[in-house]
Amino acid sequence: MVFIMELLVSVPMIVLLALFLLGKMSIFLRTKQISKSDFQKLPPGSSGWPVVGETLDLLRANLEGNPLRFTKDRVEKYNSLVFRTSVLGEQMVVICGPAGNKFAFSNEGKKVVLWWPSSLRRLVGPSFIHKVGDEARTNRKLLVSFFSVESLINCIPTIDEVTRNHLATHWQGKEEVKVYPTIKHHIFELACRLFMSISEPELVSRLSVHFHYFSKGLMSIALDFPGTQFHAAMRAAEAIRRELLVLVRQRRIDLNNKVASPTQDLMSFLLSNPDEDGKFMPEVEITNNILGLLYGAHGSSTSTITLLIKYLGELPQVREKVLAEQREIAASKAAGEFLTWEDLKRMRYSWNVVSEVMRMTPPLINMYREALVDIEYEGYTIPKGCKLYLSISFTHDDPNCHPNAMEFNESRFEGSGPPPYSYVPFGGGPRMCLGKEFARVEILIFLHNLVNRFDWDLSIPNEKIIYDPLPVPVNGLPVHLRPRDP
Ligand SMILES: *[C@@H]1O[C@H](CO)[C@@H](O)[C@H](O)[C@H]1NC(C)=O
Repeated sequence: MVFIMELLVSVPMIVLLALFLLGKMSIFLRTKQISKSDFQKLPPGSSGWPVVGETLDLLRANLEGNPLRFTKDRVEKYNSLVFRTSVLGEQMVVICGPAGNKFAFSNEGKKVVLWWPSSLRRLVGPSFIHKVGDEARTNRKLLVSFFSVESLINCIPTIDEVTRNHLATHWQGKEEVKVYPTIKHHIFELACRLFMSISEPELVSRLSVHFHYFSKGLMSIALDFPGTQFHAAMRAAEAIRRELLVLVRQRRIDLNNKVASPTQDLMSFLLSNPDEDGKFMPEVEITNNILGLLYGAHGSSTSTITLLIKYLGELPQVREKVLAEQREIAASKAAGEFLTWEDLKRMRYSWNVVSEVMRMTPPLINMYREALVDIEYEGYTIPKGCKLYLSISFTHDDPNCHPNAMEFNESRFEGSGPPPYSYVPFGGGPRMCLGKEFARVEILIFLHNLVNRFDWDLSIPNEKIIYDPLPVPVNGLPVHLRPRDP
């Protein structure tokens, strides 16, 4: 919305934007110049209006709460699962369906490479999201070992403890809770604790305010001058970086003096572990990586837990079954004892429910890749440099992969589950989401503690979900709480 307003109010901005985008459009123009027959091999589609392309239609669909309309309308109009468009200042080819996912995931580093919108790359700064080729592989190896099962197992007691404290402070004794902002705070606090061992409430609040402005700029057009959302976001990112740099430097001293542990959190981990070439990560890159991972760890977990509470509020039979499973686990534990990895493995029904929530309302509705070469796909040419837009929600709604796709049915995840490449909330291939297991642990521990303590009713039945760009209930999901008997 604000993006549209910015466009309307500022004429100089439109001029600048036009100059900025003219450069970007050259990909297809270049192709057009090569030869007419090459041009005809481009996927069908439209670049839309000058400058903004089809961005407004995409944003409108998101705010209507029906982001798939943008994709479905065009798939129907062109009668093709591949089409081209221009959004967020980039020429893009949208590819839909499991075949498109398979193509993108299995050609990583060969024909395509993971790509992020330039607003994100500039805000986070030089870090893992910028790396390509061998550098990306060594960088990823390092981060993968931090997010490994072994290190996650060590985090479980902390996550459980932070979750219990959160419920005691923000839920206990309340009649009504606005779920979305409350969970947002919890997930941020948890990430601050696990990534940086920060538990001072003032520091968490300060970072969280900066982080709010930072997040707002991520999906804006990357124009950095006073008055734009992106400018405010760049300043917020700078402020976070400054705070983190102080912490990183202090931590290095503490590690040298053996008063901090090399395994206590992400910060220590990145300071203490070289990559496989024996190189240590520079301080600035450590702060940028933490910033990038804070972003990655934040929105999608917040959105998934919020929607889980919404779906469970609407589906009493499912909620009863989740409760039965979680009660059994609680009953097998001594009072106050923390959850373990084994306990989480027993939460199979609950995880199927979470999976179905992510199928129906994926936290990320699309992912991006960039073409490294001219790609032949489904008889079309996707020119080198062009961005690929993979529609996750399109595949998740595909009735060929998920019978009665519009119905909530957690049983689809029993047995071997949905067909390959048809359920991809975490992406796939070598660049699959690093935090998949981390998210699972965080979400299940929250669910366990929540259902064992509270029952709830949705204050607003059928509250609408909009995409901003992550799915959120439009009123923040207020719920009436009813504490359960211990
Ligand atoms: C739910 O999915 C399972 C497995 O795919 C199927 O057997 C069952 O009939 C579905 N239930 C409903 C109510 O559609």
